[in-house]
Amino acid sequence: MITLLFLVQLLSGIPLSAALLYGAVRLLAHLLRGRPLGSGAGRGVLVTGCDSGFGQQLARRLDAGGFVVFAGCLCPEGAGARSLARHASANLRVLKLDVTSEADVEQAKRTVQRNLPHRGLWAVVNNAGVTDWAEIEWSSAEDFRAIAEVNLFGSIRVSMAFLPLVRASKGELGPRRGPGSAASPAPADQLPASPVAGRMVYVSSIFAFFHCLNMGAYSVSKRGLEAFADCLRVEMASFGVKVSIIQPGNFAGATNIVRPKTALDIWTKLDAERRRIFNREYLEVAAGYFSSTCRQGFQHAEPVVAAMLHAITSGRPKRRYLLVSALDAFFFRLFPFLPAALADAVFSLSSMYAKRGEMLYAKSAADEADCS
Ligand SMILES: NC(=O)c1ccc[n+]([C@@H]2O[C@H](COP(=O)([O-])OP(=O)(O)OC[C@H]3O[C@@H](n4cnc5c(N)ncnc54)[C@H](OP(=O)(O)O)[C@@H]3O)[C@@H](O)[C@H]2O)c1
Repeated sequence: MITLLFLVQLLSGIPLSAALLYGAVRLLAHLLRGRPLGSGAGRGVLVTGCDSGFGQQLARRLDAGGFVVFAGCLCPEGAGARSLARHASANLRVLKLDVTSEADVEQAKRTVQRNLPHRGLWAVVNNAGVTDWAEIEWSSAEDFRAIAEVNLFGSIRVSMAFLPLVRASKGELGPRRGPGSAASPAPADQLPASPVAGRMVYVSSIFAFFHCLNMGAYSVSKRGLEAFADCLRVEMASFGVKVSIIQPGNFAGATNIVRPKTALDIWTKLDAERRRIFNREYLEVAAGYFSSTCRQGFQHAEPVVAAMLHAITSGRPKRRYLLVSALDAFFFRLFPFLPAALADAVFSLSSMYAKRGEMLYAKSAADEADCS
């Protein structure tokens, strides 16, 4: 009886202890997070890919937060860029910036340098991106290159051009200089030590580590991008520049990232041999599966924009921001640490893989038997 009472007492204490522990952990995390940036006033941020989607929403929020925003747009005369400029303050400037063009990047850099606010260029957000879906065998090396040219080499090109300005902005946390003096920043080794420094932000994707069907070319570009950002973070640590990676999950319904593509679009690109193996019925199933998956994602971009803002303004930005539903979070946090055999086995549980197995190989084997 005494044992039972003791057990009841012990168990009834657990929720209280758990709540106290949870509170202590949250408080510690809050203290460790550091002092956020007071205001954006006098600080510049360059964001690429502001014609639509995350980039455009971030540009609007930064503008509302008092930052001087350099909004890189692929089509500055397009509807998206014009709407952005129309609804923004005079502190937001739309720049023509195709990240695949060396000339555009150089021109954008000159414009930013000429219009730097007194605290310099605080952050660069490498957001511009494109995607496509296709199995590897439906793609050409050129398809891989086209995606990497924007998502990977575009971000590298922009980083190379603007890093010196971001590194220099850290000196602006010391005594203020007169307007325009940040255009010719002091050498980094003469800048005063500061607890807060500039930011480089990279918009990656869960597909940087989640190697599922149909996303090969996109995964290659985003995995490469993360390798670049990770290496940069290590090198920039000595200068105090913080590097963050944003990993959105499925936000296809919230942005323009997914362009319409039908089974017929894929079929017309395939040669006779690939048509025989990847038959038309399977392509219809794959296209249907892809569009229904896109429909299941987030319908608004807020979690991603909030993470980008945190990476830019927090005293302690995270190295990675994983943005998936609460239900999926455990799985996607665990996935990168699974042994490859186990990670591959996860895919075989999907109904789509089962269908693929039946529709492709069984059918092609049957066709071969018919031919012999
Ligand atoms: N939405 C998602 O589910 C999701 C998930 C994971 C990661 N992401 C990543 O999030 C980032 C933003 O995409 P989003 O979802 O907001 O899609 P989005 O609405 O299509 O935005 C991408 C932006 O990049 C621009 N862009 C394309 N090629 C460019 C180039 N060569 N130079 C400069 N800008 C270029 C696009 O311009 P146009 O509109 O004129 O083409 C568009 O404004 C991308 O890096 C994407 O890979 C998105």
